Amino acid sequence: MDIFEKLKMAKSPLGQYAEETHGYFMFPKLEGEVRPKMKFMGKEMLTWSLNNYIGLANHPEVRAVDSEAAKEWGLAYPMGARMMTGQTSYHEKLESQLAAFVGKEAGYLLNYGYQGMISIIDSLVDRHDVIVYDSDSHACILDGCRLHMGKRFVYAHNDIGNFEKQLEHAYAVAEQTKGGILVITEGVFGMAGDLGKLDKIVALKKKFNFRLLVDDAHGFGTMGKTGAGTGEHLGVQEQVDIYFGTFAKAMAGIGAFVASNKEIIRYLAYNMRSQIFAKSLPMPMVIGALKRLELLKNHPELREKLWTIVKALQQGLRDKGFDIGKTESPVTPVFLTGTARSTANLLLDLRENFKLFCSVVVYPVVPKGIIMLRLIPTAVHTLEDVEYTIHCFSEIKNKLETGKYDTDKIMTIDEL
Ligand SMILES: Cc1ncc(COP(=O)(O)O)c(C=O)c1O
Repeated sequence: MDIFEKLKMAKSPLGQYAEETHGYFMFPKLEGEVRPKMKFMGKEMLTWSLNNYIGLANHPEVRAVDSEAAKEWGLAYPMGARMMTGQTSYHEKLESQLAAFVGKEAGYLLNYGYQGMISIIDSLVDRHDVIVYDSDSHACILDGCRLHMGKRFVYAHNDIGNFEKQLEHAYAVAEQTKGGILVITEGVFGMAGDLGKLDKIVALKKKFNFRLLVDDAHGFGTMGKTGAGTGEHLGVQEQVDIYFGTFAKAMAGIGAFVASNKEIIRYLAYNMRSQIFAKSLPMPMVIGALKRLELLKNHPELREKLWTIVKALQQGLRDKGFDIGKTESPVTPVFLTGTARSTANLLLDLRENFKLFCSVVVYPVVPKGIIMLRLIPTAVHTLEDVEYTIHCFSEIKNKLETGKYDTDKIMTIDEL
C-alpha cells in the first residue's frame, strides 16, 4: 500500500470533514489586533476565542516592549540551543522570576509548552517507573506518556476513588521494577474548565510515594490569590513537585516554563530532548515575557477584571438554564445537544446573524450528540459583551431546541 493512497482513505477523525469545514469551522482566520472585536471573513465579530486572559496582548507597555526588543535584538539571537549557544542572562532572569513567583526554587524556559511537556515526562521516567495520569489530560501529556517505555495507568477524569485504585496498581508494579511513580494532571482542565483535584491528590502522598507534575497552562496568571496558579488556589502549591505553565494563555505570548527544585531543573535542562536539540527562545519573546510577568504580578486589577467578566458570564448563563458543566475557572463551556449538522447550522447562525465568534468542540473530543461551545472570557471583554452574548445564546438555544437547525444540509444565511 502506498502511504499517500492510504491517507486519502483514512483522513483522521477531524480531517474527514476538511472539505466542508476548512476555512470556516476549522482553520478560521481571525484578523486584526487581538481584541474582543476581531474580523472574521470581513465581518466584525465579538470574539470569545482569545488566549488573552488578563488582557496583556494589547497592553500598551507590552506592545512597546515587544517592538523595542524586536528592534534592538531582532529574532535571530541567541543563535542556538540553550546548551550550546542559546544561553543569555535574560533567559536566566526570567527563569528565576518565574520560579520565585510560583514558589519554586528554580525554573527553566521551554520553547513551546507542548514540546516542553513531552520532554519533561520523557526525562523524568525510565522503563522501571510508572505513570498515573488523568484521562482528560491535554494532548502534550498524552504524547509524553506515549514515549514512556514502562507501565502507565490512566484514571477516570477527576475520579479520586479511581485514582487511588490506579495508584495501587502502579505501586504494585513499581515495587517489582524498583521504580518510582509519576502522577500527572492539569491544574485547570483547558477544555471544560474544571480543576484538577490537587488537594485530594496530594493527600494520597501520605499513603503512596509519588511525585506530582501539574500542567497549569490555564491556571497560571488566572487562579490563586496572586495568580500563581491552581496549586496556590487550592493551598497545595508546595506539594506540587513539578509545576508547568505556558506563556500562550494569560501571558499572551509564546513559550512556557517548568519549575521545581534546583536539582530537578538542572536535571531537566540536561535531559529534555526537545529543548537540547532545538533553538532557544528569541530575545523579544524573553524580554516580552519579563514585561508580561511584571504586569501580571503588579497589577492584580487585571485578574480582578477578568473574574468580574467570568462571574457575570457564568452566572448569566446559569440563570438562563445553560449547562456550563463543573467549571471553576475562566474557561466557560456551554453544553448543548444536537447532531453534527445542527451544530454547523447553529455556529453559522451565531457567526453570520449574531456576529459572535466562539469555538465549538465536537465528537470525538466530546461524546457523539454533545455540542460544546467554549468561551474564553478576558479582562478586556465588557459587561455589555457578556449581556449581548447571553442574549445570543438564549436565541440559538431556543432555535436548536425547536428543531430550526435540523436540516439535511448546511443552511444558507437566508434560511437561518
Ligand atoms: C493544558 C495545556 N497544556 C499545554 C499546552 C501547550 O502549550 P503551548 O501552546 O505553549 O505549546 C496547552 C495549549 O496551549 C494547553 O492548553
